[in-house]
Amino acid sequence: MNEHDAYMADFMKVFETLEYWGPGSEFDTQKALSLVPLTPSSILEIGCGKGLSTKVLAQYSEASITAVDNEQSALDRLTQRFDQLSISNRLNTVNASMTELPFDDGSFDLIWSEGSAYIMGVENALDQWQQFLSEQGYLVLSDMLWHTDAPSKPAIDFWQQEYPDMQSVPTRIGQMEKADYRVIEHFQMSEQAWSNYYAPLRARVSELKPQMPSSSALNDIQHEVDICSNFSQEFGYHFFILQKDASQ
Ligand SMILES: C[S@@+](CC[C@H](N)C(=O)[O-])C[C@H]1O[C@@H](n2cnc3c(N)ncnc32)[C@H](O)[C@@H]1O
Repeated sequence: MNEHDAYMADFMKVFETLEYWGPGSEFDTQKALSLVPLTPSSILEIGCGKGLSTKVLAQYSEASITAVDNEQSALDRLTQRFDQLSISNRLNTVNASMTELPFDDGSFDLIWSEGSAYIMGVENALDQWQQFLSEQGYLVLSDMLWHTDAPSKPAIDFWQQEYPDMQSVPTRIGQMEKADYRVIEHFQMSEQAWSNYYAPLRARVSELKPQMPSSSALNDIQHEVDICSNFSQEFGYHFFILQKDASQ
């Protein structure tokens, strides 16, 4: 195994037992869905992970849901979740890359992305995903953003490495409007969403530390957990409810 493969194997070992793969909560997903001024009939969720948000979308809508991720183990967990609720008839899982989505133009009236658009770059995602929306369809996404103009040095150093495209809320909104979306609503995600992700992640790192004392992946994740605990008032996750702007 080369160094990169070993890093990724350790990374997956940390996350395999965790349900949330990014900050999120039922409350925040349901709040964002309630702000979409449409009764969706077809939802595309991109970067669905193990499907905790997918489950909320299914429970609070009647839509058929296409859930995309490129990690098969996550899609398998999502399928199991829907089977347990006997709602698998409304779910289609697709193992694909978010940069090469195998769908026809205009196929969905709502696209949902929690904590995943940053992977291909939010501006890229805004641009590339728009074609899959029906006329005046909606895009809902969450993203990590700066909440201060003067962050602390450790926070700057960390995010410069991990997410150099992290922006302020007004800058992101400007990019969304430039990409031909109307910003219908936006809100800062709850503290519960933050702790749903970081509390189990911290516990998992502590559990694995004795077995993997020199793992770079584990050390990097530990560093993220520390930064996100110590400087959490300087940045955080934000939800945006956008509408494809047909007037452009
Ligand atoms: C930060 S996690 C968020 C997962 C989930 N939305 C949640 O909040 O728990 C990002 C997700 O994107 C998936 N992913 C990473 N790169 C991808 C790609 N190129 N195409 C599709 N999915 C990808 C990962 O497997 C992971 O499930």
